[in-house]
Amino acid sequence: MDNHAASDRIVGLKKEISLHNYRYFVLDDPEISDAAYDLIFRELVELEREHPELVDPNSPAQRVGGAQPVRFNQLSHRIPMLSLENAFNDAEIADFDSRIKRYLSLSPDQSLVYLCEPKLDGLAVELVFENGEFVAGSTRGDGFIGEDVTQNLKTIKTLPPRLEVADPPKRLEVRGEVFLNLKDFQKLTSDREEAGGLPFANPRNAAAGSLRQLDSTITRKRPLSIFCFAPGEVIGREFGSQEEFLSAILSWGLPVNPLIRKVSGIREVISYYNEMLAKRDSLPYEIDGVVVKVDSFPLQRDLGEKTRSPRWAIACKFPPRQGETVVEDICPQVGRTGVITPVAQLRPVEVSGVLVSRATLHNWDEMEKKDIRIGDTVVVERAGDVIPAVVRVRVEKRTGAEKPLPLPSFCPECGSEVVKIPDEVAVRCMGLSCPAQLLGSIVHFASRNAMDIEGLGERFVEQLLQLGLVKNLADLYYLGREDFMRFVRMGDKLAGNLLAAIENSKQRELGRFVYALGIRHVGEHTARLLASAFGSIEDLVKATEDELLSIREVGPQVAQSIITFFLNKQNRDVIERMFAAGVKPAAGEKRLGGRFAGKTFVFTGSLSLFTRDEAKRLVERGGGHAAGSVSRKTSFVIAGTDAGSKLLKARELGVKILSEDDFLGMVEGPD
Ligand code: IVH
Repeated sequence: MDNHAASDRIVGLKKEISLHNYRYFVLDDPEISDAAYDLIFRELVELEREHPELVDPNSPAQRVGGAQPVRFNQLSHRIPMLSLENAFNDAEIADFDSRIKRYLSLSPDQSLVYLCEPKLDGLAVELVFENGEFVAGSTRGDGFIGEDVTQNLKTIKTLPPRLEVADPPKRLEVRGEVFLNLKDFQKLTSDREEAGGLPFANPRNAAAGSLRQLDSTITRKRPLSIFCFAPGEVIGREFGSQEEFLSAILSWGLPVNPLIRKVSGIREVISYYNEMLAKRDSLPYEIDGVVVKVDSFPLQRDLGEKTRSPRWAIACKFPPRQGETVVEDICPQVGRTGVITPVAQLRPVEVSGVLVSRATLHNWDEMEKKDIRIGDTVVVERAGDVIPAVVRVRVEKRTGAEKPLPLPSFCPECGSEVVKIPDEVAVRCMGLSCPAQLLGSIVHFASRNAMDIEGLGERFVEQLLQLGLVKNLADLYYLGREDFMRFVRMGDKLAGNLLAAIENSKQRELGRFVYALGIRHVGEHTARLLASAFGSIEDLVKATEDELLSIREVGPQVAQSIITFFLNKQNRDVIERMFAAGVKPAAGEKRLGGRFAGKTFVFTGSLSLFTRDEAKRLVERGGGHAAGSVSRKTSFVIAGTDAGSKLLKARELGVKILSEDDFLGMVEGPD
């Protein structure tokens, strides 16, 4: 396969794999078998091995876990994890109570003791403690076999690694619900949107997606929570009731929902249900009902189970937080980091007590997948205070007059051309001067690791924007003392300090300046690499894709992002105006021109004049690429002593072989 075809195939495979990962991990609804998934995964691994120059570090084949299309190990539940029967209104709750009394041959006017618990909307897990030690945890799966998510469960801060009790039971299985607080969900959603990722539909999906990460360092960044609510197999301890069980595990350090209450008789159950319904919106997590359980374990045993659910418990569901309304318009909205999101303006509709008039449609891919058009009748859903989402279109209500909103070509805020980065679902405005992004971009520009303009934090930047003093980054360098004096509570001294800090920043190193520009995917490290490879901003602006790709660690996504950034005239103008004001980023290391541009070097054997890393750096500074294996594309093999198979391969392929001295001569010689 030639390079072009391989590159296309790699892009296609990565897209396919990420879609299947999304379906498997996030939606919990795989479209293809594990075997079919393995096949496409292996094809990607193989292609990337054959074409190392096309490898993007973010490729699924390069992630932790290596070249394995790893999914989770399976763990079986010793006691099946059942589900619950539902009740949707007071009458159905009362039926449950009568049913139980009949079954137990109790008189209808006797009051049973129940434990009432909020029904968390997350995902059920089983935790296993052996002699007090947390040894394993799994998802519910099909109720019989779940997935081993032990490592990920260990990231939950409120879950102790060992029970806080001197004589723990020999084995304790505890079931509970893993969930994400609404605040954390909101943050995760906006972070993902900014990163151009696929959104989570709701907190439940987000919790499931976070727990089912193969890389637990990702799970660690998602603040998952858990409440424990039921025993599985317990060896070495007897409990008489649900209340006794919960207070024991609480005293052993396991998190138990504080809103759980013991009540007597069905009337008290119903008032608990109403109380929770009223509280629902003020809770920091999403609940979708209450679970009512017969408290006594002996009675639970008498009542027993049906095929899939116990007779002694019921889920009293809250009305769904869904409503139906019409999409009056769809407006593109620019976020703080330039992501453009389609937002539906809805005919206001009340959804469980709250008036909903807007809903995010996340991105164009998502909007097209759901085929949401202006004029459509849609079902909307809300969770807590989280921005409502459109669940689906009532296609049967279409009149034919509905219109989809095409992808915008220009940013609605600043008119910059909109870009869609390959491999991302988001479309973005890359305009440095886009008003929607200005606050964020100035704060980043001034931050410590960027231009380090001391004192210029968010509070002052906000005032600069409000007073209309700064319309782009360059304007910072045209401010005078009198401008700062217009700030609230600004003294002469502070104004002087700010001006001096701005002045000082003019001489920052090039790497910092490149980082400060806030080019997508260009973090501090990449910015430094770019600075040393190109030596000046003028050369970086002119860099071609090949030149950028010849820098190790710069993949196609990063290269594309840099090129797009500098193609934007607004951005080039801003940089020019900064330079006109005296900004002069200091070049770092001397660069080696482009003498190695387009050339690939392979080092083999033990080197005596320089280390491998130094050698690589020299190649990269010359705009070349240092590869790990010899192929027909290798330009030179630099052989140290005791060179082995790579040298043989080079001879076989007729690749030019040089000594370390020859290489140094190339580095130091004239251009
Ligand atoms: S008890 C056999 N208690 O609801 C009893 N479940 O529809 C098993 N859930 O799979 C469940 N909060 O994921 C129980 N306080 C609670 C719960 C709860 C949420 C979930 C759980 C279960 C599902 C059943």
